[in-house]
Amino acid sequence: MKIGIIGAGNIGATLARKLAAEGHDIKLANSKGPDSLRDLAQEVGATAVSREDAVKDVEAIILSIPFLSYQDLAALFAGVPADVTVIDTSNYYPFRDGAIDGLDNGTAESVWISDQIGRPVIKAWNAVLAATLAERGKPAGSEGRIALPVAGDDAKGKALAMQLVDATGFDALDAGSLADSWRQQPGTPAYCTELTLGDLGSALAAADKRRAPENREALITQFMARYGELTHDDTIAMNRTGTA
Ligand SMILES: NC(=O)c1ccc[n+]([C@@H]2O[C@H](COP(=O)([O-])OP(=O)(O)OC[C@H]3O[C@@H](n4cnc5c(N)ncnc54)[C@H](OP(=O)(O)O)[C@@H]3O)[C@@H](O)[C@H]2O)c1
Repeated sequence: MKIGIIGAGNIGATLARKLAAEGHDIKLANSKGPDSLRDLAQEVGATAVSREDAVKDVEAIILSIPFLSYQDLAALFAGVPADVTVIDTSNYYPFRDGAIDGLDNGTAESVWISDQIGRPVIKAWNAVLAATLAERGKPAGSEGRIALPVAGDDAKGKALAMQLVDATGFDALDAGSLADSWRQQPGTPAYCTELTLGDLGSALAAADKRRAPENREALITQFMARYGELTHDDTIAMNRTGTA
């Protein structure tokens, strides 16, 4: 499949590497332009392009950039056909992204992103730590394979995103509509807790919309206080305890 990825950081470059390894044709873009990421693109098996080229002649577009950058993207999508699936990996952290009123008032992050870019998105890969994505994927059917939630309103786009999540080494669970995607945002039991398919559904159902932002802030404060001393497994354990 031809896929454009905008954002070549921890998540975008890892997705590029994994999807290219599965035989997908990947174009990779960042904000600084293709000259700044040719070496990285070559290393992961992708082609470095401009943002404008990343959205041309592709079947899917993956957005993996910080929240503040979405406002820059609206014009890019004007000429993109409606049947191209746009997948969003983002999470909102006010300490990093600044306070955004709509989000602080309860709009689901990916609904807000849809509004910014003027088209629907599917939310996927947001609820997995970069290190989990890079190192803990397994072939389909493996014991203990981690599952990731995929939310969105377009059934065809969601099915495509779920197929790509599987290709990156994770079971995919249909997590409902985009409006419901707050259930996989930071501070919820499904967010970066490395659950299997059997446990992910009940974690999504147990999410508490009022508590999620409070959990998110409490957890980030704990991470900052122990920055550098936490192992990956400590982080997962802290996420599980802090959202239970
Ligand atoms: N890190 C994680 O564990 C994790 C897990 C799940 C989801 N996420 C979410 O995924 C998103 C990406 O996270 P990340 O950790 O991969 O970030 P990152 O490592 O900081 O990379 C961000 C990438 O976005 C690009 N970018 C920024 N503004 C842009 C713009 N206006 N146009 C095009 N590209 C732009 C940057 O390119 P330049 O350097 O050229 O600006 C960079 O390649 C975030 O929303 C994050 O919350 C992160």
